[in-house]
Amino acid sequence: MTSLKEILVIGGTGAQGIPVVEALSESKRYRVRILTRNGKSSRAQRLSRLPNVTLIEGRQDSQDDLHRALKGVYGAWVNLDSFTLGEKNELFYGIRAYEIARYERVQHYIWGNTAYALKRANWDKKYHFAHGDAKGRISDFILAQGQSGMRSSILSTCPYINTLVDGIFVPKEQPDGSFAWINPAKKGKFPLIAVEDIGHYSLWLFDNVSESAGLDLQVVTDYVSFEDIANTFTAVTGKKGVHKSVPFEEYLTLVEPYPNAPMNWFAGRDVAQDEASMSWRENCTAFWHYYNDGVNGVADLDLLTRIHPNRIMSLEEWMRKVDYDGHGKPGTVLKGLQDLLEGKPMSKD
Ligand SMILES: NC(=O)c1ccc[n+]([C@@H]2O[C@H](COP(=O)([O-])OP(=O)(O)OC[C@H]3O[C@@H](n4cnc5c(N)ncnc54)[C@H](OP(=O)(O)O)[C@@H]3O)[C@@H](O)[C@H]2O)c1
Repeated sequence: MTSLKEILVIGGTGAQGIPVVEALSESKRYRVRILTRNGKSSRAQRLSRLPNVTLIEGRQDSQDDLHRALKGVYGAWVNLDSFTLGEKNELFYGIRAYEIARYERVQHYIWGNTAYALKRANWDKKYHFAHGDAKGRISDFILAQGQSGMRSSILSTCPYINTLVDGIFVPKEQPDGSFAWINPAKKGKFPLIAVEDIGHYSLWLFDNVSESAGLDLQVVTDYVSFEDIANTFTAVTGKKGVHKSVPFEEYLTLVEPYPNAPMNWFAGRDVAQDEASMSWRENCTAFWHYYNDGVNGVADLDLLTRIHPNRIMSLEEWMRKVDYDGHGKPGTVLKGLQDLLEGKPMSKD
């Protein structure tokens, strides 16, 4: 056991972190230390029973906790939670987490990114969404530090395919038994990633440091429009699927968690707000524009298949694999949503 390299996983109880913890544990090449605010949660408890997995209680937004968590580990896999921290705190703690890792002499650092939307959109504010831009800025900062001293890799994800079950892409069952995706998307092809594959990609990044140092690995499963999603759903389930494109105002009113919700609404209703805070509506609007308009570009699918030959190749393959039936299963994917449903948002105070 002592010969295994230890990896700190930040966000390890989350949708994205769970497959990473599982893949590292299964490999038998790594020990895993998960930073969590609550070691007694059902997710933390289940993961702690996997081989070579331990928990350390603490917060992403505490520099003392980050020092404690990063001390003595070989590597770190870091996915901060924008929907709890908000853009400003994520920027600060994202940079501090990297700096603290350097201080603690971590050897390989993987940063969970989504997209630097503003930069990809030539700084057009129409596309500024907080949970992309905070992570994207930090990615640039990390890569700018170079690869001597500590190696770093960026793992860039896109919307989870799994939010067809829990989150923003769950369809609504209609009185006639059909399933409708009602949203402001038009014809755009959205990139979707199956979180099931994120473990394999992360393990590869740790295992192949000579190739992965300095790499920004953009991961995706498939590119689909909402019409494609509805049609694939029909092909897989035999049930009728439809996409209804509606104006933003109509959509936002339908799905806003509560009036004037902030983008980091997982932190609870009493979370502090100021001039820099983005509302849930602003964040959501830019997100839909960004992916619908194809600003994110296209990933290197050949590279992904080389790294992960058994990756899930398509939306259809994923739907068949999970027996997708169109019904939402709230709280089964996103821990932030699960906590809210269980009535315990983990706000700071
Ligand atoms: N939803 C999507 O489609 C999507 C796609 C790509 C990227 N992302 C990005 O992924 C991030 C969220 O990760 P996720 O999807 O895995 O969410 P999630 O399932 O809601 O999990 C949130 C994770 O963050 C941890 N966490 C939250 N606040 C924390 C704090 N103050 N201190 C310590 N841990 C904290 C939670 O740990 P504990 O509760 O155990 O403390 C949990 O592991 C967001 O920044 C989002 O932008 C989301």
